[in-house]
Amino acid sequence: MKDYIQHDPWKIIEQGFHKEDNRISESIFSIGNGKMGQRGNFEEHYSGDSMPGNYVAGVYYPDKTRVGWWKNGYPEYFAKVLNAASWIGLDVHVNGERLDLHTAEILDFRRELDMREGWLKRTFKARLLNGNIVEVEALRFLSIADDECGALRYSVKAVNFSGDIEVKSFLNGDVVNEDSNYDEQFWVEIAKSVEGNAGVIVSETKKTAYQVAIGMKFEIFKNDELQDLDYANEALKMYVSGSSKLDVVEGDQIVVYKYACNVSSRYYAADQLLEKAEEAVNRAHSIGFDNMLEDQAKAWADKWQHSDIVVEGDDAAQQGIRFNIFHLNQTYTGEDARLNIGPKGFTGEKYGGVTYWDTEAYCVPFYLCTAPQEVTRKLLIYRHNQLGRAIENAEKLGFDKGAALYPMVTMNGEECHNEWEITFEEIHRNGAIAYAIFNYIRHTDDKEYLAEYGLEVLMGISRFWAQRVNWSEGLEKYVMLGVTGPNEFDNNVDNNWYTSYIAMWCLKYTEESLAYVKENHPKRYEEIVQNASFDASAEVAKWREIREKMYLGYDEKRNIFIQADGFFNKEQILVKDLDPKHLPLVHHWSWDRILRSNFIKQADVLQGLYMFEEEFDLETLKSNYDFYEPRTVHESSLSPCVHSIIAAKLGDEDRAYEFYLRTSRLDLDDYNSDTKDGLHITSMAGTWMSVVEGFGGKRVVDGQLTLSPMLPKQWKSYSFKVSFKGNTILVKVTDSGVEVTHEEGQGLQIKLYDEEINIKANTSIVVHR
Ligand code: BGC
Repeated sequence: MKDYIQHDPWKIIEQGFHKEDNRISESIFSIGNGKMGQRGNFEEHYSGDSMPGNYVAGVYYPDKTRVGWWKNGYPEYFAKVLNAASWIGLDVHVNGERLDLHTAEILDFRRELDMREGWLKRTFKARLLNGNIVEVEALRFLSIADDECGALRYSVKAVNFSGDIEVKSFLNGDVVNEDSNYDEQFWVEIAKSVEGNAGVIVSETKKTAYQVAIGMKFEIFKNDELQDLDYANEALKMYVSGSSKLDVVEGDQIVVYKYACNVSSRYYAADQLLEKAEEAVNRAHSIGFDNMLEDQAKAWADKWQHSDIVVEGDDAAQQGIRFNIFHLNQTYTGEDARLNIGPKGFTGEKYGGVTYWDTEAYCVPFYLCTAPQEVTRKLLIYRHNQLGRAIENAEKLGFDKGAALYPMVTMNGEECHNEWEITFEEIHRNGAIAYAIFNYIRHTDDKEYLAEYGLEVLMGISRFWAQRVNWSEGLEKYVMLGVTGPNEFDNNVDNNWYTSYIAMWCLKYTEESLAYVKENHPKRYEEIVQNASFDASAEVAKWREIREKMYLGYDEKRNIFIQADGFFNKEQILVKDLDPKHLPLVHHWSWDRILRSNFIKQADVLQGLYMFEEEFDLETLKSNYDFYEPRTVHESSLSPCVHSIIAAKLGDEDRAYEFYLRTSRLDLDDYNSDTKDGLHITSMAGTWMSVVEGFGGKRVVDGQLTLSPMLPKQWKSYSFKVSFKGNTILVKVTDSGVEVTHEEGQGLQIKLYDEEINIKANTSIVVHR
């Protein structure tokens, strides 16, 4: 754990340079705008420890898989988000000495991320080896309003010297990924241009042949006056720069404004990129830094207007929840259905950029309630676009007749995770993808989605389940063999309850969806059935039979669902009885020992009870929680939020708060000692879920929004917003009661605790507790 980030409701602040934690800070101070992102690297040269990171959404490299023993069905490659060209670089020489905070004496240092307005600022005062002292302020952002562009302002003040300051502004595409499997550089240069204060580099990814052009234009002011300078230009391998030396006297201030862009062949023809990049930087330059910054603040104000959670009485909690919402909003903006949300977003290489089930199970609930409907719709269409690939993926494993197995990890629809237990066995991800369609429709009433896209996905998924089950003569039941549930500490097991339950649910939901489309969109129904060569009566009859005869492990004595066959053959030990020095298990125990233990990595049975809570009584929820919770080590960041929501439902407020804390400040406090690799973007949505679904008790029951808020005793009050079926409401919870204010839409009938409440448009209702 670390606690050097200062608490503040809207800002993330590092006061004093924490050199040894620089990689952690670089992750925490990452910025993005849905199309690109970058770690909080310094603009000027830094020779200390740092992990450069610039990422362009959707641009990836298929790094050749490394495995010991090849098995049929393995993915050929592991898709990697690429460390791409950087535009922030400025080399500053002060009387001939290069400014470098690793070698200079740092007299003062502060880094701050303004989440309200979406910019990153660094100020410092440093004494160089030659005794010259500079005062620097660097402010930059990636524009949400114009998502091809970014800008920075860098000012250097000559505090105690006269002489000269040389500024070299550059673009650097000569970069590598730290996690490259074979130490390969993934980019090749295609073109570059540099003249005076402007330059462009066009590079192409090997194998995938994406072209990306990065452009810059900069200008330099001295004491508020634009300087008419001659620039010396350099053009090296994937690198261009322009530099100029300025005379200064003590007290002078040099300010560089640098405008930059990233444009890619995902949006433009490759041969137009150079021109498009020039156009984009010129656009940014003509709008100007201050106006761009103002547009940025407005765009962020709009995001906060719909997604903010306000906590009174606890700055650490307030900062934590806003930090999570901020990162979710800068990672995915819902502009492009070809993009998705990687577990590390734009903040690091590990897992970076690739799509997991995290999107459907965790991120969808967040975007559904806090962003326009289109945003989630795009996330769903992403999977529809990849249906063909999911069918091919299933074929590779021996399935046929349109059965679809979505990948556990993907960039373009193909499976690209190279751990076999995950690739072949964590098939529960198919269930989450179907569930997200259901979740979307119950929040939006957009049933047309089924006819347009959803049904085809559901049919492919259900066909997969129907082929994946086995009939067991002995049990006279359908069984699901050789799977891994969400708990990856229990591999290659039979009858994982969560997987079998969600499979059954998918079969039922697909049947209902078929009936809906048949009745309401008969022409489209015929088209879908024909395209998929779907034998409706035979296939649906089979699905019904499977549902009716699916084996689900149940322990009557304990009234719990059995996580998987063999679970009770394991020695039953509780986490509280483990010597804490063994934790996290994944770092201290052999894989063999982990697999033989009863310890649970993340919510598994409880994940199912969370998703299908309506189908179980409170007593069942409680007995399962009481049994599984004490065996769970939460070694996935996706885990505590589910436990927090269930604890809140069961009235265990203290545990609910404790679990919430583990997700809320996970990265800010480096809880799992891995923030240096990047932030846990997808589990950030889990934090939002813990507040809104946990403390707020938000559910959708029979198509109706229901709330049953509690107030954690550590807080004075909290408020959150929920968009639901065209309405937005603001819910404020204090110790005296709950105030619901209607903000957008026509009005809404909700259930608050157990009371039916009709909130008319633009009115408020207060319910005392
Ligand atoms: C979890 C998975 C998750 C993945 C990416 C793993 O540690 O066990 O459930 O999909 O991380 O976040």
